[in-house]
Amino acid sequence: MTADPASMEAPVPRHLAIIMDGNGRWAQRRRRPRAIGHRAGARAVNRVIDFCLQRGIGALTLFAFSSENWGRPVEEVGALMKLFLNALEREVDELDRRGVRVRFIGERALFTDAIRDRMVAAEQQTAGHQRLHLSIAASYGGRQDIAAAARALAAEVAAGRLRPEDIDEAAVAARMALADLPAPDLFIRTGGDQRVSNFLLWQLAYTELWFTETLWPDVDADVLQQALDEYAGRERRFGLTSAQLGAEAAP
Ligand code: FPP
Repeated sequence: MTADPASMEAPVPRHLAIIMDGNGRWAQRRRRPRAIGHRAGARAVNRVIDFCLQRGIGALTLFAFSSENWGRPVEEVGALMKLFLNALEREVDELDRRGVRVRFIGERALFTDAIRDRMVAAEQQTAGHQRLHLSIAASYGGRQDIAAAARALAAEVAAGRLRPEDIDEAAVAARMALADLPAPDLFIRTGGDQRVSNFLLWQLAYTELWFTETLWPDVDADVLQQALDEYAGRERRFGLTSAQLGAEAAP
């Protein structure tokens, strides 16, 4: 991996969110089963974690399995579950050693006991770390995340602990997944499609979006650096004007 000093000094996202698309096509191009593409995708996950640790990116959220992915052919869902279980068994000690805090967002009740137990164990083992917050979205949907926050608010109102007029953006945000992290600064989707596909809908409101044709298993530090370089050149206005931003930056 080659990175010039200029790009090393550029602003780095605090939180990177990724839709890891293209595993199936990567395998099909090699006339291999789709499961082989997912295995290669798992190796790319290790590369992106390495990259975040090297660049000082503090939070990484990966879309590993959407609520809709349960509808894929049973063999493919089975292969993915086996891969998740293997990854949980093999990788957690190394993540722990490297100061990575792991958590899972999504409907974990839908996974087998074995996977759920490993998720809890991984979260407990790594709970004290701060260097990189790795969130794995598994059986996750952005609409489901918003609905769960609405349900939590409704329950608090029904219990008399919250008044409807006190429900504002901050109250909703506090009940969404990843409420303790800054919103993603940069979103990357690999595999050529340009959509958000029910990932982090609430949290992506002001996130910079970056798309690449590269299939997920082919992602390496050079591709990730391209995304960071483009991010560094963007002006984030959050609804304001450039002039206002300049004025705020002035001493
Ligand atoms: C999308 O590619 C990818 C997935 C549905 C699975 C993502 C899983 C991994 C990257 C592997 C392991 C992850 C962890 C966290 C250990 P696709 O199958 O939709 O590809 P296609 O669009 O080419 O068919």
